[in-house]
Amino acid sequence: MKKKVFSILLVIAMVFTFSACGQTGGNDGDDADTGNGGGDTLKVGVSMPTQSLQRWNQDGANMKQQLEAAGYEVDLQYAGDNDVPTQVAQLENMIATGCQVLVIAAIEAASLTNVVDSAKAAGIPVIAYDRLIMNTDGIAYYATFDNNLVGRMQGEYIETALDLKNSAGPYNIEMFTGSPDDNNIIFFFGGALEVLQPYIDEGKLVVPSGQTAREQCAIQGWSSEVAQSRMENLIAVNGYGPNGTKLDAVLCSNDSTAQGVTTALKNAGYTAENFPIITGQDCDKPSVINMKQGTQSMSVFKDTRTLAARTVQMIDSILKGTEPEINDTTTYDNGTGVIPTYQCAPVIGTIENYQELLIDSGYYTEADVTPAE
Ligand code: BGC
Repeated sequence: MKKKVFSILLVIAMVFTFSACGQTGGNDGDDADTGNGGGDTLKVGVSMPTQSLQRWNQDGANMKQQLEAAGYEVDLQYAGDNDVPTQVAQLENMIATGCQVLVIAAIEAASLTNVVDSAKAAGIPVIAYDRLIMNTDGIAYYATFDNNLVGRMQGEYIETALDLKNSAGPYNIEMFTGSPDDNNIIFFFGGALEVLQPYIDEGKLVVPSGQTAREQCAIQGWSSEVAQSRMENLIAVNGYGPNGTKLDAVLCSNDSTAQGVTTALKNAGYTAENFPIITGQDCDKPSVINMKQGTQSMSVFKDTRTLAARTVQMIDSILKGTEPEINDTTTYDNGTGVIPTYQCAPVIGTIENYQELLIDSGYYTEADVTPAE
């Protein structure tokens, strides 16, 4: 009971603090409509993991552009190339320099507990962006995509491409997922296996390496190089090749791992004519090019413009003292309880629909996804 009263007082205090912030510059009543307005501009800290993977550049740029359009000042930081101490230091700096809200795409789910606790102690609401941050009750909201659906889409693509429902098989498959420290892989890998596991159990799908546990399929840092070397190893041990052991599909949880696998398979002699089915996620430019060249079969498009827009709405609501819209209150437990979440919808991207999905929608230009001569 005491705890409840304390929580209510805390919320009232936070709302008061945030509305007071909104008024420090003598804002007029109109500011209530925009969440921000004249006078002192409210500052939002946006922390991204790396610039070496295209999607995060896209995420950072979209967040900055949409927040600025809504009238906020933005402190956007990239943590080197997935460097955890840099991310922690940048967040500490954002707290010290007066950011009113933090938006964090964590490098490691479990490494930001202390700094998020500090943000909470300073009364700064934190939104976990795309990846959940674990073991702290300082996460106010989580904005992400339906991560389980991403995995199921990949599994269903393989199911359809191999016609697993009707054909007898057996088909050979190997599986790759992402970084073991990324909470998302539980959902990506889990979602894919919801579809594929029954076929593995039935013997229609065979994993010749025997490596089916998530830990065995995980790729540290989502690195293309690590994925490539694991695939090279699987090729060496199992004799995969266009003239060797048949390899029908490789489940890859995202594009950076898919690109490493593709390189290994190309080096082993596979060509577009006999390439195994390869899944991915993000519709990264190099993977769209691979799809055009027949060396990746599909990707899952997660429109970072949509995620940014949803996150900006959350920030607006928080700073106005109203409840942000959420659509999931059961899926994402970070160890301290379920975090109220908005899940955006992922979409399958293939060579058939990339034009409409990526080019006509203004996400890329055709030149962006045209292979170099
Ligand atoms: C994101 C993916 C991304 C991966 C590697 C995951 O947490 O959800 O979209 O491909 O990290 O950066």
